[in-house]
Amino acid sequence: MSSAPSESTPLPKNVLIVGAGGREHTLVKTVLASPARPRVIAAPGNAGIAAEVPTFPVAADDIPGLVALARREQIDFVIVGPEVPLSLGLVDALAAAGIPAYGPKADGARLEASKVFTKKILLKYGIPTAASGIFTEIEPALAYLRSRGAPIVIKADGLAAGKGVVVAQSLAEAEAAATDMLSGNKFGAAGSQILVEDCLVGEETSILVVTSGRDYVILPTSQDHKRIGDGDTGPNTGGMGTYSPADVVTPELLVRIDREIVKPSVDAIADEGIDFRGTLFIGIMLTPQGPSVLEYNTRFGDPETQVVLPRLDTDVLALLWAAARGTLGEVKPLVKIKPDHAICVVIAARGYPDAYPKGDAITFPPALPDNVQIIHAGTAKNAAGQVVTAGGRVLGVTALAHTLRAAADSAYAVCEQIECATKVYRRDIGAKQLNRR
Ligand code: AMP
Ligand code: GLY
Repeated sequence: MSSAPSESTPLPKNVLIVGAGGREHTLVKTVLASPARPRVIAAPGNAGIAAEVPTFPVAADDIPGLVALARREQIDFVIVGPEVPLSLGLVDALAAAGIPAYGPKADGARLEASKVFTKKILLKYGIPTAASGIFTEIEPALAYLRSRGAPIVIKADGLAAGKGVVVAQSLAEAEAAATDMLSGNKFGAAGSQILVEDCLVGEETSILVVTSGRDYVILPTSQDHKRIGDGDTGPNTGGMGTYSPADVVTPELLVRIDREIVKPSVDAIADEGIDFRGTLFIGIMLTPQGPSVLEYNTRFGDPETQVVLPRLDTDVLALLWAAARGTLGEVKPLVKIKPDHAICVVIAARGYPDAYPKGDAITFPPALPDNVQIIHAGTAKNAAGQVVTAGGRVLGVTALAHTLRAAADSAYAVCEQIECATKVYRRDIGAKQLNRR
C-alpha cells in the first residue's frame, strides 16, 4: 500500500513534470517509482527523460502552451522544476485552469526572482544574513563598496541563471562588476538593481524544505560544489556536484538551522501573505558566528535533487501532492531517510559556464552497477538517433552506497567510462567531507 495522505485525497494518476535538466530527470525517476504507479509525461524533457516517459516539445517558459498540454493530456498534477516558469506564473495559470501543481505561485517565486525582495524579508523578520546595501545608481554603489572593502559580493537583483553573483576578491573587480550590472551591460534588467553584500566565510549547505505554508518537512542535507574547478577554483556555475548527507550539518546544527532559519523563514513567508506550496531551498553559509542565509530558491536544487530524493524512503509523489493540497501534516510522519550516502558528479561541456560546444556524441558504458544512475541534464538526440550534448551541464553520475567513499568510487568509475570529446568534471566532489574524516 502506498503512503497516500488519506482516502479523501487519492494520489494523482496523470503527472506532468516541467523542465529539461538533471533535476527533472530525477523527479521523473522518483515519481515513476511511486507505488501509485502514475502515468508520467514531461515537457520539454531531454534525451534521458525521453527514454523513460513521453515528452512534448513545449518550452518550460511557454505558460499557455504548458496549460494547454496539461488540459489535452488530462493531467491532474503538475510538478514544476525550474524557476523561470514559476516566476512567469505557471502555477497561477494552472490553478485558474483547475489543475493542481507543486511549486509556488508568482508571488512566492519572487523570493528567488528578486534578491532585494528576499533581503528585505530576511531583515524584517530578523533572519541571519550578511550585511548589505541596495543600489540602482553606480556612484552610491561604488562609494559603499569602497567603504566596506574587498572581498565583497555583488549580486544582480533578478534571475541570471546562477551567474548573477560575483564574489570579488579585489575592489577593482567589485567596482567593475557593479558598474557592469548597473549600466545594463550584464544581465539587462535583472541587473538594474544590485545588492552589495559582505563576504561570508565558511562552508555552504543546501537545505531543501517541502512546505505547504505553515507545515514543512526538511529534506536530507546536501552540499553543492559551485565553482567549475577542483579545489573550488574558477567561476561559479549552477553546481558541479553534490553529496548527501552533508556531515558538516550535525544533528545539533540542523536543530539550530531549523530554529533560527527554516521555521522563521516559513512563518515570514506566510506572514507576508504568500501561500507557498513547493520547495523552499535555503542556501546557507555556516560561518563561525552561526548559519547565515545566502539566498532562497523556490524550487528543487540542481544537482541537489539528484542526491536528496534517492535518499528518501518515502513516496515522493505523495509528499509533493500533500504539499500542493495543504495536507503535508498527514504525510510528514511517513517521511523516512535512508542511511546511505549519495553523490552526484556533474559532467559538463568544456567551456561551461561560458561558451561551450553542443552536439558532441556521447557513448555510454554498456552496463551500470546497481547503485549507479546516469542522470541526463543537457542532452538531446541528433538526426541519427545518437545522444549528444545540448547544454553546459550534460550529465550527472549519481551513486548510492553505505559510505561516501564507496559512493564516490562507484560514480567516478562510471565517469571515466563515459566517452565524450568535450567532457569535463571535477575530481573532488565530496573531498571536503572525505578529508575531514
Ligand atoms: P547565491 O545565488 O546568492 O546563492 O550566490 C551564489 C554563490 O555565491 C553562493 O553559493 C556562494 O558560493 C556565493 N555567495 C553568495 N553570497 C555570498 C556572500 N555573502 N559571501 C560569500 N559568498 C557568497
Ligand atoms: N545547485 C544550486 C541551485 O540549484 O541553484
